Amino acid sequence: MPDSKYSPLPPWQRTDYCGALRARDEGRAVAVLGWVAARRDHGRLIFIDLRDREGIVQLVFNPEYAAAHDVAEKARSEYFIAVRGKVLRRSEGTVNAELPTGEIEVAVSECEILNTSPVPPFPIAEGEVAAEELRLKNRYLDLRRPEMLRNMRRRHRALKAVRDYLDENGFIEVETPILWKSTPEGARDYLVPSRVNPGRFYALPQSPQLLKQLLMVSGFDRYYQIARCFRDEDLRANRQPEFTQIDLEMTCPRPEDVMSVAEGMIAAAYQATLGIDIRPPFPRLAYAEAMERFGSDKPDMRFGMELRNLTEAFAGTAFKVFAEVLARGESIYAIAVPAEHQLSRRELDEMAESLRSRHGLGLAWAKTAQEGWQGPVAKHIGESEKARAAQAMALKAGDTLLMVAGDANKIRPVLGDLRLALGQKFGLCDAEGRSFLWVVDFPLFEYSAEEKRLVSVNHPFTAPHPDDLERLESEPLRVRSLAYDMVLNGQELGGGSIRIHSRELQLKVMDLLGLTREEALDRFGFLLDALTYGAPPHGGCAFGVDRLAMVLCGTDSIRDVIAFPKTQKAVDLMSGAPSEVSPRQLKELGIKVTS
Ligand code: AMO
Repeated sequence: MPDSKYSPLPPWQRTDYCGALRARDEGRAVAVLGWVAARRDHGRLIFIDLRDREGIVQLVFNPEYAAAHDVAEKARSEYFIAVRGKVLRRSEGTVNAELPTGEIEVAVSECEILNTSPVPPFPIAEGEVAAEELRLKNRYLDLRRPEMLRNMRRRHRALKAVRDYLDENGFIEVETPILWKSTPEGARDYLVPSRVNPGRFYALPQSPQLLKQLLMVSGFDRYYQIARCFRDEDLRANRQPEFTQIDLEMTCPRPEDVMSVAEGMIAAAYQATLGIDIRPPFPRLAYAEAMERFGSDKPDMRFGMELRNLTEAFAGTAFKVFAEVLARGESIYAIAVPAEHQLSRRELDEMAESLRSRHGLGLAWAKTAQEGWQGPVAKHIGESEKARAAQAMALKAGDTLLMVAGDANKIRPVLGDLRLALGQKFGLCDAEGRSFLWVVDFPLFEYSAEEKRLVSVNHPFTAPHPDDLERLESEPLRVRSLAYDMVLNGQELGGGSIRIHSRELQLKVMDLLGLTREEALDRFGFLLDALTYGAPPHGGCAFGVDRLAMVLCGTDSIRDVIAFPKTQKAVDLMSGAPSEVSPRQLKELGIKVTS
């Protein structure tokens, strides 16, 4: 079977990438390898567009080279072929200005098919987007598409720039284990059974949090890692069960030192991938203010429509719905949709219905006009209240006021979501806009009604703000932390904190979180011990590589920047993982599947 298809060695070495050839190469003898992107048989002449990772070049087969011409007749889409030939300038009128290689073509003298292909399940061309399920099932073909290649290369560039930047700034890359012990980062763990220790499990790291803290105890001073993290949580557009962090930690930093390193790193990534100059420092916004003005701890600041507190404006109102809420000591917040963006009665009714069904909240809306307020609640609201509200919101005639009453902690995020939805609906979020900021001064704890205990807003190793330490036991919910999140256009890119480096304080915080001393020692004994050995103050942060790549590639889907991603159901459609395993494997691990 002497067929080149079965030879694992190419007949000749490539001299150039297809997409890299230019007019300056005219007259050169070249060898290129690639996939057939298109084939046009003009009888005498056959043209093939040959694709490799750098782009497409046109090949021309002349019957003069009969053997090569015969092979070209057999070639079909996505066959992998090797050719040798000469670069010729295309004749006037056949130049393709759309292709970077459009001024030239390769006149082929030798051609071999190195492998064949069935008709691919979707076209592999720029701008052709097939159904995602099909793409994920045939990911190796999807990754052949120029857009996907571009995304993956941009991700590579960004990471390379980040690595260089951190190296230049004295950070040492250290790899930490994947088979390890659970570190709480707020999600469920992926567990791995240990065959040699029956009944025991490793946990895949949700992040290298504790290990990097231990490296500071060891004296590495500045650590970083491009770290794979695993979290079994509900997936959303910007989440994957397995994702990558740029993880770093520093000894004795102030929050601004970590933030400044992070800003430099992001700026380096932008410069390397898009040639865009990002100018740190980014603005800082306290958590409390972010919630008050945007109803979110990751506000999209590309547009206004900020929330306003109208509780005062409605003090003493006769409008029953509001009066009842105010009597309970709760609040009224609102956003104003500017006059240039009109909402129909139907849209307003739908919005109200959605708030009612999803949050059990009413939406009181009013359109302000020269003649006065219009809408179902307008007649219930007194003129002086209207005047106060109009002043507080800086209302103009034609604006639509959307008001929600209830517990401030509940209604502000609801209005925040509404603000975002309207911002998107009215096209207020400039796709090219880059609104970076740091959200700082997070609370250390929040109360979980579900678990009936305090839980960490960040993670349990985050240091309380030194100014609030005395409130730790008396008013824990009023204690701020030394945590910071970097937000871009309403998405959290990364975050971190200064850590607790005192064993006593760490035990106190664990106690407040409801861990008994025994539980704390059992789960975190190694950390608590390490802290006693001259552990220096330390802090750091971690950034989502996938999220950063999404922004740099201008895509809304995290799956567009991961080579082999999982679906929303955490399934790899190509390999079928997760899959069943053999009874023998289960037996070896001492595991029984009960459902
Ligand atoms: P945190 O949990 O905030 O912090 O994670 C840091 C960043 O990782 C990214 N990220 C994700 N990306 C994709 N899919 C996910 N499921 C996912 N979860 C998180 C986000 C996020 O901002 N150890 C701390 C950091 C520290 O304190 O130093 C941590 O992991 O971009």
